[in-house]
Parts: sequence; C-alpha cells; structure tokens
Amino acid sequence: MLNFTFQNPTHIHFGEGQISVLAKEVPLNARVLLVYGGGSIKKNGVYQQVISALNEHTFFEFSGIEPNPTYDTLMKAQDIIKRENIDYILAVGGGSVVDGAKFIAAAALYEGNGEGNSEGNDPWDILAKQQAVTKALPIGAVLTLPATGSESNGNSVVTRDGNKLPFSSPLVRPLFAVLDPSVTLSLSDRQISNGVVDAFIHTIEQYLTYSVNGKVQDRFSEGLLQTLIEEGPKALLPATKENLEVRANIMWSATMALNGLIGAGVPQDWSTHMIGHELTGAFGIDHARTLSIALPAVMKVRKEQKREKLLQYASRVWQITEGDEDTRIEKAIRLTEEFFQQMQVPTRLSDVNLGSKDIDLLIERLEQHGMTALGEKSDITLAISREILTKAL
Ligand code: NZQ
Ligand code: ZN
Repeated sequence: MLNFTFQNPTHIHFGEGQISVLAKEVPLNARVLLVYGGGSIKKNGVYQQVISALNEHTFFEFSGIEPNPTYDTLMKAQDIIKRENIDYILAVGGGSVVDGAKFIAAAALYEGNGEGNSEGNDPWDILAKQQAVTKALPIGAVLTLPATGSESNGNSVVTRDGNKLPFSSPLVRPLFAVLDPSVTLSLSDRQISNGVVDAFIHTIEQYLTYSVNGKVQDRFSEGLLQTLIEEGPKALLPATKENLEVRANIMWSATMALNGLIGAGVPQDWSTHMIGHELTGAFGIDHARTLSIALPAVMKVRKEQKREKLLQYASRVWQITEGDEDTRIEKAIRLTEEFFQQMQVPTRLSDVNLGSKDIDLLIERLEQHGMTALGEKSDITLAISREILTKAL
C-alpha cells in the first residue's frame, strides 16, 4: 500500500427529512447565499424545505448555475457577495451546483498571484494556472443528484469557452452535506443513469490500475461496483424505480466513490475523466456519457498494463472464473459495456454522432490543457489517447 494521509471532515446527514438540519448546521449569524441551478428544486419541493429550515437565517439567492457550470455564470455571483457581505455559501443541487459553489467561494476571497496587477487577479487562474486557493468562504450542501461525490470532496470542474478544467482544494470541501434519497425521485431516467455510471467510473479509476496489495481499498471498491451494478438498473425499472432503499444505496455509493476513502493509498488513473472532459468541452456531451464511451476503450488499450487488476475485477466483480486470462478479461470488458447499455448510456463515439474526423480536435485540446501524461504511471501520451479515442469509434 502507498503512504497516505486521510481526513474527510464533511458532516453527512443522510436520510428522509434531513433537510431540516439546515436550521442548526448553518450558523444563525451567517449571511448566506443560497445557490442553485435551473429550477428543479422549485418543482420537487426541495426549495420549500430549504426555505422553511432557514426561516430564522438571513439569506440571499443566486440561481441559474447550469450543468457543467461556466465561469461567466459563476462570476456573476460576486456582485451579490460583495453587496450583501455574504460569508456562507449553501449549495442546493447536483454536482454542477456544488462545483459552482466551490468556485464562487474560492473566487470571492481570491487575492491573485501576488503580482498585484489586474491580470494577476482573475480567479480563472485557479483553474488555468492551478493557482493555489488560500482562502474560501465556507460551504454547506444539499445534494439532489447522486453522482459526483462533490458534496464531500474538494474537487470542482468549471468551463470557460469550451475549456473544462478541474481544481481541487480542501478549503472548498463542504462542511456538511444533506443526502435525502427521496429528493432523487424527481430525477429523469437520464440523470439517474448518468449518476450511477459516473459513480461506477469514479470507483474504477481508483481501482483498475496495478496492485499495491491495498486489500481494504480493493474490497471497498468491489463492494461499491457490485452495489451499483445491482441497484442501478432497478432505479430505471417501473416496478422498482420509486423504491427508496434502491435510491439510498445508489446515493451512498456515489458519495463513497469519491470522498477520498477508496483512493487513499492506491494508484489512480483519471485518464477516462480527462478525455471525457474534452468531449464535454468540445461537444457538450453529458459528463457520465463521455466516460461510458472512453472507459471501455481505456480498458482495451491498457489491457497489458492493467492485466492483474482486470483479472481481479473479472473474478470478484463479475464472478468470471472460466477460460484463459485473455478470455476472462475480454468478458469482463464486455459485461461492463453491457451494464452501461442497460443503464442506457452510449459506449461508442458513433453513438453520439462523432467520428474519426473529431479526434484531432480532442487531441489538440488535451495537449493545450497539459493532459499529455495521464494514467497511473503518467505514461498515457497523446499518441495513446489517440489510440483510445480511435478504439472508441
Ligand atoms: O439545474 P437544475 O434545474 O437543478 O437541474 C439539474 C440539471 O439540469 C437536474 N437535477 C438535479 N437534481 C435534480 C434534478 N432534476 C430533477 N430532480 C432532481 N432532484 O439534473 C441536471 C444535471 O445536473 P448536474 O448537477 O449537472 O449533474 P451532476 O451531478 O452529474 O454534475 C455534473 C458536473 O459535475 C462535474 C462534472 O464534470 C459536471 O460538470 N464533476 C464533479 C466532480 C467532483 N466535484 O468531484 C467529479 C466528477 O467526475 C465530475 O467531473
Ligand atoms: Zn465523474
């Protein structure tokens, strides 16, 4: 196992009716900015529950954070933050809203790169130049879409002019997160599918590398993968889709998949995500759907480097024990693709009307964004990313 330091200080309030804890989790003397997306929270009753819980608080609102939140939208929140002396951000929504809240919170206290000129003061540098976040407003979260794990991690992804870039800081990790599975009942099938697949691939990217004998991490990961394989399809079937136990298992899996626990002390390979971000940035494809296209190709192209873990994945997650090594690995990859198909997400670039002519642009963007040495051993070059995209045609 590799050395690691692990701490996840986010308080989780899990279960039906937990939105009411906002009344005591958000400090009474805070000047709160409630941030949300395009309005789903007004249709499903979440907004009303939040407002009731905050009836003794002083709060203001900022809405309109879009899926794959943009810099331009998020920067608009800075006016109200200054005008109303906001000192606390409450995010209510999916990963995009929580990610957006993180950028808003960091941008509000961003002091620039120390060069003292106006050019050095653009919070976009937090993403484009990976300028360190040294201060941020405190954040609380009410999660409405289980997928990203953003509710209890320090990651955020923001888009500007087609450039979709991640940043990370412990200072933007939410102090608390409310996870009420019943609020996920209003999600469309498409968003449920996206969430299950995103969580599945977060787990895979911290698992499918090379063995460091991290038995606890491996078995936690295998448990999460099996849970998502079992429960994911139930959330799409008419007979079981409203079942709150199904929703609860999916919600907790998604949080556990990216809260730092399973990734501590093991190698990680985020190449599927980095290639996926370019697909979203360039063509606007939903985050999870970019991943379900890229991952099977990553598994195929990196079969030799990942051989030992692919065999473990085949036997422990899919119970494949028959046949020689290559047959078992190929079957595990096929079953992974079939699971994605069952979850109604694409597995090929052609499924989203992209072809070989589009690969050059994606490679160009990967290069522009410095994504030239991806994977658990930083050996996925641009040439290998091209091979992966070609395999995904
Ligand atoms: O905007 P509203 O009206 O709220 O509607 C949203 C949005 O249209 C809707 N929705 C959310 N909860 C709902 C609901 N509709 C009905 N009922 C509910 N309960 O769903 C749509 C999609 O929401 P979004 O927040 O975009 O989805 P998701 O949670 O999948 O977040 C995706 C974003 O997170 C980033 C992705 O790149 C993408 O930008 N990621 C963040 C990560 C992190 N912070 O660690 C890791 C991930 O790998 C990912 O990159
Ligand atoms: Zn993801």
